[in-house]
Amino acid sequence: MRHSQTNDGIGHVDFVGAGPGDPELLTLKALKAFERADVVLHDRLISTEVLALAGRNAVLVDVGKAGFGPSWKQEDIDALLVSHAANGQHVVRLKSGDPTVFGRLDEEIQAVQAAGISWTIVPGVTAASAAVAGIGQSLTQRGRNSSVRFLTGHDMKGFADHDWTALAQSGSVAAIYMGKKSARFIQGRLIMHGADRATPVTLIENASRPDQHVMATTLDQLPDDLIAAEMDGPTLMFYGLEPRNAVTALTQYKKEHA
Ligand SMILES: C[S@@+](CC[C@H](N)C(=O)[O-])C[C@H]1O[C@@H](n2cnc3c(N)ncnc32)[C@H](O)[C@@H]1O
Repeated sequence: MRHSQTNDGIGHVDFVGAGPGDPELLTLKALKAFERADVVLHDRLISTEVLALAGRNAVLVDVGKAGFGPSWKQEDIDALLVSHAANGQHVVRLKSGDPTVFGRLDEEIQAVQAAGISWTIVPGVTAASAAVAGIGQSLTQRGRNSSVRFLTGHDMKGFADHDWTALAQSGSVAAIYMGKKSARFIQGRLIMHGADRATPVTLIENASRPDQHVMATTLDQLPDDLIAAEMDGPTLMFYGLEPRNAVTALTQYKKEHA
């Protein structure tokens, strides 16, 4: 849906979800927005394979942020979006996964809307969807969990606080984004609130990409196993889910027959 105010002679901004990295997980709508784009402002996590699909005439600008510390200030990104669109350009603001999930989307929409520029959201496949597919599981399952939480490991104040009492209940499932640095904090809070130390925790690094790496552990072993695994890529952590056996077996089989 196109959100429009007075759009006389000025450009347009598409907030586009790039998915988790596998270019085949881009939507057709995202590809069409790419084809129209004069400029693509993208985050650091966007894979080179996805960026390669941008139209030949599109200018690519990396406005990514690294880890905890922003390399681009949010207000500078907002200003760049507005200035390109105000010059009549078709801007694609490309965000990893789905732009509505931990994507700081609202700040950018506010800036664009305040400038009277039309905008659209093109949804994408969020990391949790790709990661759960990578371990052959479902995010929800009748009789196991009738809800799933999407959590961030850190927010503007540091390690993020959540409803630990609810999460500690048996059968809880959470997809934890940006959770590596706060793994010990999360473990401590959950155990303090009564979580079973044997609760499965699975980490999926580079979900959907050729270098996807799955590590299955328990709440008890999480911080130590995470250090040992040396995961440098983007990683999604599932609390309360373990890889389905068949997938583990298949991965093992592939390794043995490679
Ligand atoms: C700023 S959040 C953006 C999330 C994104 N909007 C989404 O819907 O996936 C970045 C975090 O998403 C997760 N993430 C993004 N891409 C991933 C991938 N391919 N594999 C695993 N986790 C990923 C990681 O936890 C990463 O630190």
